Amino acid sequence: MISAHKLIKASYYAGKDLFRPPLTEGVRPTATAVMVPIRSLGPSHTERITQHLLGLSPADRYLRFGYAARDEQIERYVSGLNFERDEIFGIYNRRLELIAMAHLAFAVEADFTSCAEFGVSVLAHARGRGYGARLFDRAVMHARNEGVHMMFIHALSENTNMLNIARAAGAKVERDGSDSDAYLRLPPADIDSRMTEMVEESVGQTDYTLKVQAHHFWSFLRMMQDVRRGMRDARDRTSS
Ligand SMILES: CC(C)(COP(=O)(O)OP(=O)(O)OC[C@H]1O[C@@H](n2cnc3c(N)ncnc32)[C@H](O)[C@@H]1OP(=O)(O)O)[C@@H](O)C(=O)NCCC(=O)NCCS
Repeated sequence: MISAHKLIKASYYAGKDLFRPPLTEGVRPTATAVMVPIRSLGPSHTERITQHLLGLSPADRYLRFGYAARDEQIERYVSGLNFERDEIFGIYNRRLELIAMAHLAFAVEADFTSCAEFGVSVLAHARGRGYGARLFDRAVMHARNEGVHMMFIHALSENTNMLNIARAAGAKVERDGSDSDAYLRLPPADIDSRMTEMVEESVGQTDYTLKVQAHHFWSFLRMMQDVRRGMRDARDRTSS
């Protein structure tokens, strides 16, 4: 069962970044993140999902989709996302860039309704921080709570990062030449999985709201600085 301490710690990490300026590109944060706020994404995030996927290199697109998806194929994939049936999870940074996302697709075939497929991508500059693994855990929890018994991951055999994530979670990996399939049998939902998902979703939503507010705050501050700079320049020009 989730403890009160865990709840307090989660809210603390969701709010503590509010008035810190946005990170500079290429500069890695020194503090190790204890909690990664993950939120489920709806149709209003479509534009950011597209930007995220278009930001993947051709090699990463190949690993993610199994073929080197062109821009228009990515746009078609995003416009075909079914937010009602499937679950899309995302991790945003302080600049509101979608740095990691996962797609949990529920099987539509009548014989496989208790199966779901997992796909994930993390932007190159945000890798190696555990985001891929955290998204996997989150998808597992959601799948359990939705009555899924088997989670399925299709990956290229060369994709050791993805296969490591699946193996670490206990998945059975079957290699078939250049392709590999990983199967993870899921335990049934329990009160802990339901409560934990509720808390994690609420932390993810709160974190996102705070980031949006902070983003507006910094934009406003930058605008005020520009206005002040403009007034100072005009004053200097008239006095010289
Ligand atoms: C696969 C992918 C999602 C992993 O994301 P990530 O956030 O870097 O993953 P994690 O930080 O959780 O690390 C997962 C594993 O990858 C490996 N890994 C990640 N970064 C690494 C690095 N810099 N050096 C060595 N190994 C690394 C590790 O084995 C790690 O497992 P471990 O923590 O048990 O050692 C990411 O590489 C990606 O987006 N790739 C392109 C798309 C893709 O391949 N999608 C999967 C197909 S569906």
